[in-house]
Amino acid sequence: MTISETITKLAQQKNLTDSEFIALLSTDVYDNLLHTTADKVRRQIYGDEVYIRGLIEFTNYCKNNCYYCGIRCGNSVIERYRLSKQEILECCKEGYGLGFRTFVLQGGEDPFYTDDMICDIIHEIRTTYPDCAITLSFGEKSKESYLSYFQSGANRYLLRHETANNNHYQKLHPIGMSLENRKQCLFNLKEIGYQVGSGFMVGSPFQTLENIVEDLRFLQDLQPDMIGIGPYLAHEQTPFAEYENGSMLLTLRLISILRLLFPYALIPATTALGTIDQNGRELGLKAGANVVMPNLSPVKFRKLYELYNHKICTGEEAAQCRGCLERRVKSAGYRIVTNIGNVKR
Ligand code: SAM
Ligand code: FES
Repeated sequence: MTISETITKLAQQKNLTDSEFIALLSTDVYDNLLHTTADKVRRQIYGDEVYIRGLIEFTNYCKNNCYYCGIRCGNSVIERYRLSKQEILECCKEGYGLGFRTFVLQGGEDPFYTDDMICDIIHEIRTTYPDCAITLSFGEKSKESYLSYFQSGANRYLLRHETANNNHYQKLHPIGMSLENRKQCLFNLKEIGYQVGSGFMVGSPFQTLENIVEDLRFLQDLQPDMIGIGPYLAHEQTPFAEYENGSMLLTLRLISILRLLFPYALIPATTALGTIDQNGRELGLKAGANVVMPNLSPVKFRKLYELYNHKICTGEEAAQCRGCLERRVKSAGYRIVTNIGNVKR
């Protein structure tokens, strides 16, 4: 089968064999066809609409020590910060005024915030902004904890599985962290009733194309509402400082493949994609992404939430990012909408 026939098969059957996936991932010759096919599917379901999510990075403390991540606990050089409930609510207030109807609370795994504190913050956002979605993204918790956040008013949870291959997972994480637990968390979240997002880094150290196929198979099993992928980018204060960054072209190819595999999915054009290339997010949208997640965190803390070096948007006010993205999305041929932006299953 030729690659162009493979793309047609993927669009029609929403599936391929492992070897067809590998062949498609291995060549850039058909990228244009792949991206336009994915864009057609995206427009059938979401038209030209792009959903915006206001990202609040509320803590850069983390008890984990993932080898790739700049806020790992082993990084003794970075200054740490935490936002108070009041500061988080201020971010929401500013975001609401700018048209955001989804707030994403993201952070390291920071034991300072007890479940009671988290539930109190969620409850306050829920009562102040009943028309908004509350998305959480602060790692692996017990099923009971996830349930208590849900009952306090959270609707969505983002937890990338990072890699679906056990050996690869062990190469990216220290002993004590397990892929099995991460996957279990995702299924627990689904069972509770969250809209669930997962995903992985593209080009993380030791990743093979076979690993990526395993990632796609895991996502087929999970059937998430949201899928976040972005290139791996090096951070100098990590054990992986010397490893090469992931590839933008492979990331874009995968965005299109994900769009064809999961036509309904909410797929962000991520900050990492915008960091590896100044037009990365626009290209991500054209390849099939339909979400952007500008930063609502206070400017004075933004540089400190440094997962990788050279992260964009760390000096801009929320309103500046909002305006900048409006222009970027428009230039790519799409339109930001300010509704809650639920998945269209
Ligand atoms: N602690 C939460 C968690 O583990 O899901 C949320 C924060 S975590 C820093 C968010 C995501 O950043 C991770 O899932 C990972 O895929 C991504 N990330 C971390 N380090 C990165 C790097 N060096 N390059 C690209 N993405 C990275
Ligand atoms: Fe933040 Fe452009 S999106 S400055």
